Amino acid sequence: MIRNLDRAAFEAVLRRTLSPSSPIRTPEFLRGRERSLEQIRRAFVQRGRQVFIYGDRGVGKTSLALTAAYEHQPSGYEPLILSCRGSFFEIARDLLNRMAQRSVLLSKETRGREFSLTQVFGVKGNQSVETVRVGEIRSLNDFMAALRELCDTGQQGRVCVFDEFELVASQDDRRLFGDFIKQLADQEVPIYVIFCGIGDSVAALLDDHPSAPRYLAAVELARLSYDAGFEIMKGAAEELGAEIEYNTRVRIATISDGFPHYVHLICEKLFWEMYECPDAVAVSNIDHYRRAVRAAVEDAQPYLRSLYDKAVRKYQRDYEHVLWAAADHPNLERRSIEIFETYCTLFQEEKARLPREKFNQRLNALKTPSHGQVLIGTRQGWYRFRESMLRGYARLKAEEEGVELTVDHPLSPRPAR
Ligand SMILES: Nc1ncnc2c1ncn2[C@@H]1O[C@H](COP(=O)(O)OP(=O)(O)O)[C@@H](O)[C@H]1O
Ligand SMILES: [Mg+2]
Repeated sequence: MIRNLDRAAFEAVLRRTLSPSSPIRTPEFLRGRERSLEQIRRAFVQRGRQVFIYGDRGVGKTSLALTAAYEHQPSGYEPLILSCRGSFFEIARDLLNRMAQRSVLLSKETRGREFSLTQVFGVKGNQSVETVRVGEIRSLNDFMAALRELCDTGQQGRVCVFDEFELVASQDDRRLFGDFIKQLADQEVPIYVIFCGIGDSVAALLDDHPSAPRYLAAVELARLSYDAGFEIMKGAAEELGAEIEYNTRVRIATISDGFPHYVHLICEKLFWEMYECPDAVAVSNIDHYRRAVRAAVEDAQPYLRSLYDKAVRKYQRDYEHVLWAAADHPNLERRSIEIFETYCTLFQEEKARLPREKFNQRLNALKTPSHGQVLIGTRQGWYRFRESMLRGYARLKAEEEGVELTVDHPLSPRPAR
């Protein structure tokens, strides 16, 4: 029990304060991103400048984009959120339909229809307004003209979020997005656009478009700081009227390693453990924590789990140990010799570990398709996780097995007791 909260009240607090499976939408719960929000505010002061948020999977790009989108949205409207799966023109059509508030459910019937501006707004022949949808968009000029017209008829100032930009697969489509960004500025179309993409740089995501980056504020999102992780825990604990014991907070921040998903997930499990106790619990204990980590591992996103299992081939412990060693350091990119040193620190008994040569073979095997290519070689002898979230999952697994990963987060020191 936590205080004397009944189940409904307990669940309501969990739902409000923790969101392991959904992005954040309000600044109240967006921890540690004040500067990024301000960067976006400043970017939007200038007409024609759009925002591109980039960083690893799971660092909080969508959360930042949605929180900013709600902030800049004209009142009474929702932001327009689009995933970038599909061709540029399909996505363009979807955006126009959303802006024109056409029912998405009717899209099939009218998909083949020719695009014309009268179809964006009104009735043609004997069709009712609801059934008229924007058909195919064939050119960027069509798209820009339609956007302009929608803006002139009350849609100005809308915020569009193009999420998961890394899904734009073809070079042509990336070019078109680049041209679109430029045209928004050149034609002074009064909408705000926020892109999100997994990557190291905007230029790379836009395929080195010659001019688009000039019209963009690039917001690089690093992993979340320790302090922000602590704030997530504190916010939830305070609303519940419970406390997460100090060492546990440090452990949660350490294994989450800047990926807020894990902070939310482990906390959620921890509070359930506390809630399930027959007696009233005010402060978490080590058993709650251990069980919470186990539950978090079981609950982790299935794609991470299966990728991990593929990498370590399930019953072969040595791969798993090599992977933990690779994950046990704040630097994302590391040399094999350093990873080996970590490995020796983690497994001090010589009998229990692989000799250097075998270790290197395992490390290299983890780069191959039969092990899910979970590591990639960046330069001669350097390695990094292809999927940063998998790095987080490896840390969680190590913790579950009682192997303590001890390294501090790069972004901020551990707070004093
Ligand atoms: N600044 C933040 N503070 C608290 N939780 C966050 C923050 N950013 C993201 N999260 C949480 O982390 C998880 C991943 O966030 P998300 O925005 O989907 O990441 P991305 O889009 O980069 O993959 C979500 O569960 C979200 O609730
Ligand atoms: Mg996202």
